[in-house]
Amino acid sequence: MFEKEVYVNRRNRLQTIVNSGVILILGNNDSSMNYPANSYHFRQDSTFLYFFGIDLQGLAGIIDVDNNRHILFGDGYTLDDIIWMGPQSSLVSKAERVGIPEVLPFKKLFEVVGDAIKQGRKIHFTPPYRGENIMLLSDLLGLDYRWVKDYASTSLIMACIELRSIKEPIEIEEMERHMEVAYKMHTTAMRMAHPGVSEQEITGVIEGISMSRGGMVSFPVICSVRGETLHNHYHGNILKTGDLLLVDAGSESPMHYATDHTRTIPVGGHFTAQQKAIYQIVLDANNKAREATRPGAFYRDVHYTACRTIANGLKSVGLMKGDIETAIQEGAHALFFPHGLGHMLGLDVHDMEDYNDTLVGYDSEISRSSQFGLRSLRLGRRLKPGFVLTNEPGIYFIPALIDNWRNEKKFEAFINYNEVEKYKNFGGIRLEDDILVTSDGARILGNRIPIDVEDVETEVAKKR
Ligand code: GLY
Ligand code: MN
Ligand code: MN
Repeated sequence: MFEKEVYVNRRNRLQTIVNSGVILILGNNDSSMNYPANSYHFRQDSTFLYFFGIDLQGLAGIIDVDNNRHILFGDGYTLDDIIWMGPQSSLVSKAERVGIPEVLPFKKLFEVVGDAIKQGRKIHFTPPYRGENIMLLSDLLGLDYRWVKDYASTSLIMACIELRSIKEPIEIEEMERHMEVAYKMHTTAMRMAHPGVSEQEITGVIEGISMSRGGMVSFPVICSVRGETLHNHYHGNILKTGDLLLVDAGSESPMHYATDHTRTIPVGGHFTAQQKAIYQIVLDANNKAREATRPGAFYRDVHYTACRTIANGLKSVGLMKGDIETAIQEGAHALFFPHGLGHMLGLDVHDMEDYNDTLVGYDSEISRSSQFGLRSLRLGRRLKPGFVLTNEPGIYFIPALIDNWRNEKKFEAFINYNEVEKYKNFGGIRLEDDILVTSDGARILGNRIPIDVEDVETEVAKKR
């Protein structure tokens, strides 16, 4: 937990921006896995963590803007709780730690919200994403559970995005400190990437590194020799020489800030000439995109910088042809790069995506495209110092997509389908770093995980 002033300051700034009404922020509860008492690993709601800081179940917070009251709702600990959970400081002292003077029993939330509704005051809440909180909001607000999300407050969402997009120096320190764990996870995967080892074994070891150094992984690990499947969670393959292993994995810091990196590793430690050529194009796209990342630039233009590098590179190896600028404008390169260059990173790996990814990544200056590929770009708007982003270009050979486009004779002026056929078993390459937008550019957070061809080959050779 940060110092009390951090949370007081955040709530005060939020209340100033929202300006009127009652802000209701629900914490998360344990969620059952396969029977009631066997729950998933507890994860506090990120908005609650940001403004109220307490990493425990059974809580809700209210910021009554009109009356300048900040209240924590929760129940004190019973002897039974203490038997199962261990000794607990009182809720009042936990609230004091984050600068909240007023603590009320949880059931009082109904009274406080009910009174505000009777007075015709606006209740602001962000879109709920868990069934339990959808039901609670339905009860609190007297709304049909099916429509609760439609009543989420756009002004609260916009205020939260404004604050959380710019990482405070203490947040950057926390994120940067945890990059060491990401480094360890990915270099360990490299050292394990030898013939005969299973994807499952590597997945387990790197998840273990995360757990032993901070917390759970920040999203389910992607560790696959079928890297062309963008979010491949199947880990049943045994590695063999010639495979490319794509590892996209991140860890939550002790305060729940996420890392998110991808490396693509030649099993056994030697890229083939064909792999090296495609790898180098992705690496160039990654480096050029970072160099183009600076305050004031639209991230969509940075995405286009990566697209241009990828498409020109693919032309140089004979997979694309024709006028590359036109190919990119029409979206032909998305056969190989069907996702966005990056997204915001923070308390969530896709930061603030519970609010609505278009509101996070676009604004009145720039709207989201519906074009295949570009529509998956979660961040298009102008960058500001303090944004933390991922930079994750990739090239993939997805047999089903290639067949589909070829049958439809799509973009025949730009794609050499006869050449592409030869790559159908290639897999995919993605190279992802976490970067901070600075006052005049961008920099990688933490020590860069080995990424140059020789450095990756050297790391694999070290073995574990
Ligand atoms: N780990 C998911 C992503 O890179 O967006
Ligand atoms: Mn990732
Ligand atoms: Mn990512």
